[in-house]
Amino acid sequence: MENSGKFITVEGIEGAGKSTNLELIRGLLEDAGREVLFTREPGGTPLGEAIRELLLDHRHDGMAPETELLLMFGARAEHLARKIRPALEGGTWVLCDRFTDATYAYQGGGRGIDAGRIRVLEEWVQGGLRPDLTLVLDLPVQTGLERAGNRSAPDRFETEAARFFERVRRAYLDIAAAEPGRVKLIDASLPLPQVQARIKTAVRDFLGACP
Ligand SMILES: Nc1ncnc2c1ncn2[C@@H]1O[C@H](COP(=O)(O)OP(=O)(O)O)[C@@H](O)[C@H]1O
Ligand SMILES: [Mg+2]
Repeated sequence: MENSGKFITVEGIEGAGKSTNLELIRGLLEDAGREVLFTREPGGTPLGEAIRELLLDHRHDGMAPETELLLMFGARAEHLARKIRPALEGGTWVLCDRFTDATYAYQGGGRGIDAGRIRVLEEWVQGGLRPDLTLVLDLPVQTGLERAGNRSAPDRFETEAARFFERVRRAYLDIAAAEPGRVKLIDASLPLPQVQARIKTAVRDFLGACP
């Protein structure tokens, strides 16, 4: 069955401005008369949020990359079954803070898992479901880490070295270059009003192309 809602994801390294700009995007969609389900990965369901805690907790430092990958897709399967697919099928738009591009970026680029193995799981768990629009907020790693550093105590990902985030950033840039139709690259190093102007343009262009 053809989904009637649209699936929009926002991606980027720590401190890129995802949370800040998701609020703006939600407002743009609601102003356009769309019903919006706002959610995040890993998480989005009670079981998914429990898996998120396992993934972020320093008690599990040194978790095997394969375990991390499978937990991500475990949380994602639950999220798709209980929240994302039902919403889309009911005509609700889904706005998600990170999705499978983050798996390619973090477990692929960051941890070094072969993208082909991630693709197998993507196809197995998602079937043909992919985001309709993805905004990748891109900025230098140092800028992102400085912005994120002003927040709460760093989790299992946030304590990774700058080299890790350089690989994550590179993977996101590669995805944006490979899929220019779906993925819009936003320069998130700019002052917030300029970032938001670019996001508004991308979202309005997308809305304008939707029936
Ligand atoms: N364009 C920007 N310029 C300067 N600071 C920003 C910008 N965008 C977001 N911030 C600030 O950076 C910090 C991290 O932003 P946040 O939205 O939490 O990032 P993320 O969710 O991607 O980790 C917040 O304190 C936020 O206010
Ligand atoms: Mg955030």
